[in-house]
Amino acid sequence: MIGILLLFYKSRIMYSQSPGPVGIFDSGYGGLTILEKIREVLPQYDYIYLGDNARAPYGTRSYDVVYEFTRQAVSKLFDAGCHLVILACNTASATALRTIQQRVLPVLDPDRRVLGVIRPTVEIIDDLTQSKHVGIVGTSGTIRSNSYTIEIGKYFPHITVTGEACPMWVPLVENDEFRGPGADYFVEKHISQLLSKDPLIDTLVLGCTHYPLLEEKIRKYLPPEVRIFSQGERIAESLKEYLYRHPGLRRQITRGGTCRFWTTESADKFTTSATLFLSRPVQAETVTME
Ligand code: DGL
Repeated sequence: MIGILLLFYKSRIMYSQSPGPVGIFDSGYGGLTILEKIREVLPQYDYIYLGDNARAPYGTRSYDVVYEFTRQAVSKLFDAGCHLVILACNTASATALRTIQQRVLPVLDPDRRVLGVIRPTVEIIDDLTQSKHVGIVGTSGTIRSNSYTIEIGKYFPHITVTGEACPMWVPLVENDEFRGPGADYFVEKHISQLLSKDPLIDTLVLGCTHYPLLEEKIRKYLPPEVRIFSQGERIAESLKEYLYRHPGLRRQITRGGTCRFWTTESADKFTTSATLFLSRPVQAETVTME
């Protein structure tokens, strides 16, 4: 209760009603794969990318911890003037999005929006699968939450969903080992475990924003007829449609085509590693969250 009152007090004194950038949040670098696609489709807007690199990975953390870190990130981006925040992280979307939308937003500012990456993926899944058997690879947190199974079940109860937690995949990417033989071992292991649980899978959702970097390896161990679905383009298209349907929110986004990169770790470290995801250098700033 005291927490809620403090949030309310903070909202009354902090948030400007002027337009601001779109906030894109991820635990680390993975959300950059989503940011890239969003900027391709909506290049006119300003963005702030926030990576909580000092506390990543989130995938093996408990629900309460991921929720609290995500709430802090949303609050930080609202403080920076964002009216719209995208949780470009499946783990945060699976664990914290609903509570933030239902309990935090009404208190902080009911006119601001926080969107995730799971719903847009789920909405189109029926068009992707012929066999109606879908596999989801994700972090332990995402798979444990059962979010994909629950959400797909609501829209398309005829689809069978099988999840596989791949806890080593994010560290392989974050440590630039995703092209090496260690990656082959862990990719082959989880793909074969998934297919042994359901051999009828014809669509594999990369339910973690880090995984597109492993796509080449994943392709190597999947039967050729299984389609790999990577979320970036879909999230970008879905955001474009959303903003088309919400002109009031659209007017609250500044248009300059800029992107600032914020990290809770060292700015130099972020700058070096972000190149793996973006294939061009960026200039990052270190920020704190609480
Ligand atoms: N990239 C995040 C996701 O989409 C997870 C990375 C992490 O474990 O922090 O789930």
